[in-house]
Amino acid sequence: MSPFSYLVVLTLTLASASAIASAITGNAGTYVAGPPKTMTLSAREQFLQGHKAARAAVGLPPLVWNATLQLDARRYATELRTRCSTDPLQAWGTEGVYGRNLFKSEGFGSAAEAVASWVSEGRWYDAHTGECSAPEGKTCAHYKQVVSRATTQLGCLRRMCVFSDDTVAVCVYYPLGNDNGEQRPY
Ligand SMILES: *[C@@H]1O[C@H](CO)[C@@H](O)[C@H](O)[C@H]1NC(C)=O
Repeated sequence: MSPFSYLVVLTLTLASASAIASAITGNAGTYVAGPPKTMTLSAREQFLQGHKAARAAVGLPPLVWNATLQLDARRYATELRTRCSTDPLQAWGTEGVYGRNLFKSEGFGSAAEAVASWVSEGRWYDAHTGECSAPEGKTCAHYKQVVSRATTQLGCLRRMCVFSDDTVAVCVYYPLGNDNGEQRPY
């Protein structure tokens, strides 16, 4: 190897080593300074945390995940994703036994967004009077199920629709809260 080519090789080696070093420094800096990445939460954690926050805001304990309820939510969501609709299914076995909240979004919707859509109905609910001032076609029922004192457990599932990129989600609750929509949830 001539002295000249040795120099070229050494220069290239130094250049790539410093590129790697700066990439490592850059990544480390981003990691330390960056906000917590909520995207890394599983759907289950998003469902749980959304409910926990809404319930804590009115002094209620969090709900506990239940695999039996999740199975019911899975079966229900499997039906919904074919129709890609939140129209309730007829003659469902656990109707009236479990509470149920349904969600649909155009395109991708996260579990956190599903819970947020239910919780957002709380702006129409007056805890002092127990009245719901939701506009025509809207309700406070999903919110009232989220913050039902009677309910202690839940299981949920989020699925993409079969024939589109839209999303459906189902949460199933036990014991049932807000059965007739007239009792105060807490
Ligand atoms: C989960 O829910 C089912 C149905 O309500 C109930 O029978 C079961 O005891 C629950 N499991 C736990 C661990 O609490």
